[in-house]
Amino acid sequence: MSEMHTIVIFGASGDLTHRKLIPSLYDLFRKGRLPERFRIVGVARSEYTNEAFRSYVESGVKEFAKSTYDPDTWQNFAPLIEYFQGDLTAPEEMQTIDEALRELEKGEPGNRIYYLAIGPQLYEKAIANLGVAGMVQEMTPDAGWRRVVIEKPFGHDLASAQALNQAIHQVLDESQIYRIDHYLGKETVQNLLVFRFANSLYEPVWNRNYIDHVQITVAETVDVSQRANFYDSVGVVRDMMQNHMMQLFSLVAAEPPSSFDAEAIRNEKAKVFSAIRPIKPEDVGESTVRGQYRQYRDTKGVAPGSITPTYAAIRFYVDNWRWQGVPFYMRSGKALAAKDTEISIFFKRPPHVMFPMKPGSKPAPNRLSICIQPDEGIHFSFQAKVPDTAAEMRSVEMLFHYQDTFGAQSIPEAYERLLLDVIKGDASLFTRSDAIELSWRLVDPIIQGWESPNAPPLYFYESGTWGPSEADRLIAHNGYHWTHGCGHSSEG
Ligand code: BG6
Repeated sequence: MSEMHTIVIFGASGDLTHRKLIPSLYDLFRKGRLPERFRIVGVARSEYTNEAFRSYVESGVKEFAKSTYDPDTWQNFAPLIEYFQGDLTAPEEMQTIDEALRELEKGEPGNRIYYLAIGPQLYEKAIANLGVAGMVQEMTPDAGWRRVVIEKPFGHDLASAQALNQAIHQVLDESQIYRIDHYLGKETVQNLLVFRFANSLYEPVWNRNYIDHVQITVAETVDVSQRANFYDSVGVVRDMMQNHMMQLFSLVAAEPPSSFDAEAIRNEKAKVFSAIRPIKPEDVGESTVRGQYRQYRDTKGVAPGSITPTYAAIRFYVDNWRWQGVPFYMRSGKALAAKDTEISIFFKRPPHVMFPMKPGSKPAPNRLSICIQPDEGIHFSFQAKVPDTAAEMRSVEMLFHYQDTFGAQSIPEAYERLLLDVIKGDASLFTRSDAIELSWRLVDPIIQGWESPNAPPLYFYESGTWGPSEADRLIAHNGYHWTHGCGHSSEG
């Protein structure tokens, strides 16, 4: 097996390469995690010399790498980066790119990763051209492997995702495809599996008998001003829910996989997606709330009178033995009051309370919050007796913070893990074709319902708030409210 690895980044002049890919590769290089022999080749239509491209990505490393910029490390890293100008949508140019790559490889068989950091409208064409140029064929095991990394969004709806999968499968085997969802590269998201399945405490209560409901929140303070053109045709459900949040959902709800193996894990996740009950278009009024921040329509790039939601709250149910009847609430929005990505599991209240309490009040339920970001950790809240009272109770918390336990620098950039896994050939943290399609199957009817003539209203909210107040009614059963900020519960 050849040891030379060529990481070809298509779309090398773009933001993703500058902010995430090269800084992550640099951090991996600094930690000594990259293969002994590798090179990075950037390809884009822009004109750069090798020197100019290196200096462009160096500025990204200085600004965005997790580790502090080190000139000596950069001196060793920079010569491993090359740049080719080329248009991957033109078959003959792809051929020329292949020739240039072969020249670098000097006839030695090598492994290649093609990273598509390009607009989603170009995926199909780029992959077809890779096929035409014979760049993805794995001739023999000794000749080196070929892997293709595809960024989100993967499709715009179920039909386009299916069409893209079909087109890709004409050229590539599923085992060569790495559909990236950077949430799966987040340390705290990976820890979900360890937390659930490397501890014996939680599994016996991780079901409908003990869990009242689950809240999955991805709240962002940023608005869409920088990318309104893109966002206006997408909206929050396609941008955040179909991919990132569905992945979080599946990791919370999955059955224990039999092994820590990509297929075993991905099989269990696919089973969850199949068991989630689709919300019919006519039921969106009951199970969803959508919103838009007030200033959105004034943003350059947003269509006049746009009804693109920048906020959504959705209630799902999972039709299987473990989760029957347990609501899973999903909520995400832009221009909200705080950045907060968390999964909160609310346990059932005690069936009988023997302690004296004010009439009508109940003890707060146990809540387990998995804080994905920004303050990564886990909070568990439970009732304690307030000292020096007869039997007064209060919610208190047990806390675990990565920063305190593992140190301030313990959380790597999600792309580091994902890039390394592509190199290693571990697809556990990448989305398989069936999961993508199953997830669109859940999202499509919601969007259809919102776009239908009988659609429920789009609610407007002020920037810097927690979204439209109408979202509270979704969760108001049993006296519950949304949690605001990891660990800050507001349940009644
Ligand atoms: C991207 C979305 O996939 O994820 C963005 O397109 C969003 O709209 C971003 O802001 C959030 O990522 P993170 O890692 O900051 O939570």
